[in-house]
Formats: sequence, C-alpha cells, structure tokens
Amino acid sequence: MKQYIIRGGKSLAGEVTIGGAKNAALGILAAAIMTDDEVTVENLPDVSDINALLEAISAIGGRVERIDAHTVKLCGASICSTTVDYDYIQKIRASYYLLGALLGKKGKATVAMPGGCKIGSRPIDQHIKGLKALGATVVSENSMIKVKADKLKGSHIFLDVVSVGATINIMLAAALSTGQTIIENVAKEPHIVDVANFLNSMGANIKGAGTDVIRVRGVERLHGSVYSCIPDQIEAGTFMCLAAATKGDIVLKNIIPKHLEAISAKLSEIGADITEFDDSMRISCNKRVSSSVVKTRVYPGFPTDMQPQIAVVLTTADGVSTINENIWEDRFKYIAELRKMGAVVTVEGNVAFIEGQKELKPAIMEAPDLRAGAALTIAALQADGVSIITDIHYIERGYENFDGKLRQLGASIEKIDSDDQAAIQRFKLEVI
Ligand code: EPZ
Repeated sequence: MKQYIIRGGKSLAGEVTIGGAKNAALGILAAAIMTDDEVTVENLPDVSDINALLEAISAIGGRVERIDAHTVKLCGASICSTTVDYDYIQKIRASYYLLGALLGKKGKATVAMPGGCKIGSRPIDQHIKGLKALGATVVSENSMIKVKADKLKGSHIFLDVVSVGATINIMLAAALSTGQTIIENVAKEPHIVDVANFLNSMGANIKGAGTDVIRVRGVERLHGSVYSCIPDQIEAGTFMCLAAATKGDIVLKNIIPKHLEAISAKLSEIGADITEFDDSMRISCNKRVSSSVVKTRVYPGFPTDMQPQIAVVLTTADGVSTINENIWEDRFKYIAELRKMGAVVTVEGNVAFIEGQKELKPAIMEAPDLRAGAALTIAALQADGVSIITDIHYIERGYENFDGKLRQLGASIEKIDSDDQAAIQRFKLEVI
C-alpha cells in the first residue's frame, strides 16, 4: 500500500502550477466520443480517475492516443460496444457520463449501476429522470442500467436536486437530440460551463451554462475539436488551504480567480492575505486564523470538495468553528483521523464543531477518500514531527504529483510503497 511519510511543521512557500480540472475533464472526455471525428483534449490532469475513464473508452472500442501526460487524441468512430462494465464504474463513478454520451451517439447504452461511496449514497435518479424525459426507456437489471431510444426528442426538464452529474449527462444526450431541451435548476459549477463550451466547440448548440437554466438545441452531428480544460478549482483551493494551515506564502499559477471566490472569501475572512492577478494568485498567512462558520453549497457557494481542507485549517483557529455539510450526508469520516492529531471536533448529523487548538501533533492516519486524504496531508504538514498517511491511492485519483508539488514548496514528504519500515526510518533520519 502506498503511503506518504511527512515531516511537518514548516511554513511552505513558493510557486505551484495548477493542473486541468478533473471534474471538467471527465465530462469532456465522455463528450469527445460523441463525434466520429478526431478530438484533441489538452490540459488534462494526469490522475488515476482520468486514466480509468480513458481505459473505459478504449474498452468500448474508442481510439485513445496519448500525446503526452496532459494531452490526448480521441476518436469515437471505432466504438463497437455500448456496454460499460462494472470494473470501470467501480474504478471511476463518472464512467456514467458514457450513459448520456452513448445514448446520444448510438441510441443505447448499458452501464453498471454506480454504487454508494465513502461520502454518501449518491443516487442517480435525476440522471434517469432527464434521460427518460428525452424519450429513452430506462431499465435497471442485474445492477446494470440500460437506456435506449429510437430517437431522442427535446424536452422540458426541471431537476428536483441540483446535480453536477445529472446536468452533464442530460446535456450530453440532448446535444444530439431533435428539437429544444430546456433543463431548469441545473448545476452552475465551472466544469458544467467547460463541458458545454467543449460541446459547442464540436458544433453543439448549448446556451445558458453557468446559469440556472440550460437550453440545448439538438444538432444532427458533432465534429472534431481541439480543446483545453479549465484549471482545477479544487486543486487550487487545496493549495490555498495549505498556505493558510502552514503559515506559508504560496503563488498559484494557471488558475481562474473568479472560480475560487467562495474559497478566497472564506480564507480572507479568517485572516489570510490574498492578492489576485489575471491567472494567478498569491496567498499568505502569518498569524493564527480566526474561527468561522462554513456552509457547503452548490456553486457559487463554498464547495463540498473543499470542506475537509478548510476544516483542517480551522482545527488550529482561535475559537470554535462550525461546518455544515449540505451536499453529502457522510463526508466527516476523516474527523476520526484528525482526532488522532489532537483536533477537538464533535459531529452532530451534518454539522461539525471544531474547537481550535494551538497546534496539531503528528499521527498515523488513513485517507478515507480523495479530498479528505488531501486534507489530512495538509494537517500532517502543519504538525511538527513525522506523520504517515496511508491509502494515498485515493489522493492520486484527483491530485497530480501531489507530493512532488508539495516538495517544490519546501515540504518534507516522501511517497513510499507498503510498510517499508527501512524507508520510514531513513526518511526520519534524513529530515531531522
Ligand atoms: C460531482 O459529483 C463531483 N464529481 C463531486 O466531486 C462533487 O462532490 C459533487 O459533484 C458536488 O459538487 C464529479 O464531477 C465527477 P451531484 P456528482 O450529482 O455529480 C444528490 C470529488 O471529490 N443527487 O452534484 O456525483 C446527491 O446525493 C468528487 O472530486 C441526487 O439526489 O454530484 C448529492 O446530495 C466527490 N440524485 C447532490 O445531489 C441524483 O440523481 C449533489 O450531487 C444526483 C445527485
């Protein structure tokens, strides 16, 4: 099992370049197979979730040609199967975007039912409601969802829940339908806008992405495109929290400051200094942060995917902070790990109360999921002494070269395989 061994307690400083947005790229790669022409996608993050989706596309016959770590050429002309196996869904939930993409392109798709995961039950009823409204029949059999339509027809859909995944899946299928689809109460995250922009670059006619209502006028065919994914808002936010937690001074390059407004506002409020430039930002913090109230909301609110990272910053705030998790019902698993570091946190339902301590102490912790794993790494970098984070494969799902980027900022962190005690000992000696 891969793990990080970390000697924390240093203020981290320097420059870090933010990669492409994983959650935009997942929608974009699925959309790319909807044309028979060649598509080039640039600024992809080199993370395991993206690589798993590319494998799923290859497995159904799509041509996937890696140009370099961040660029891929895809061609959907050779797709010969419309069935996406459970193996891929298990590796990467967002393979379910192939449901909307294949339904639009081939008129049918069979995709394994995505199960619950470590942050909540994750239903997909809104995806199904949308695809049915477009005229698809949906059957769920032996843990597989089968969708089929002779012809997809535009429709008026009001989502009961604001859902990133449902918004993207419906947009994908509607892009190749006949007539106009109006989707109301949609998600407005930057990645929704990026997927819509990408589809439009392939000849789709989608308007309103980034607002509550998306209008899709179906087109007969989509064509090839060369497209670059937006920077990852959550990777950027994670490094912002790192600066605040380690009393550091970090310049983030390749970002869109507008996408980070909720995170910047919260970190400024608790005492960080932030200067924004066109596509970069400097964040520093030289004092104990103050306590705060954080409520996760859909965009443009404070993102749930930043909840564990801000919680870590608040573990050493002056006073008691409150975190309301309003998107996922089970996203506080990491708190048991944080308590090992001396954090004082109580959880009641979807609310966590954090009593700020002067400092955290090192510990051995298990990453329970992607964002929580990154948050625990920040906590370990903040605490003076040697900590270990296990199960870091979760972190590698969404953060490219996380340890390398941290080292570039002055962190003492090594990635080691399994329980290599000798390596741990060597690291301890080297960093002292
Ligand atoms: C996306 O998940 C992201 N994943 C998640 O990021 C992120 O936490 C989430 O959006 C919220 O921002 C990807 O983009 C691949 P949702 P998604 O559908 O699309 C309920 C990360 O760390 N809901 O917007 O699955 C659902 O239970 C990951 O990168 C329904 O009730 O999230 C949740 O409470 C983790 N029915 C809420 O909506 C549905 O049909 C939002 O879920 C769909 C969702």
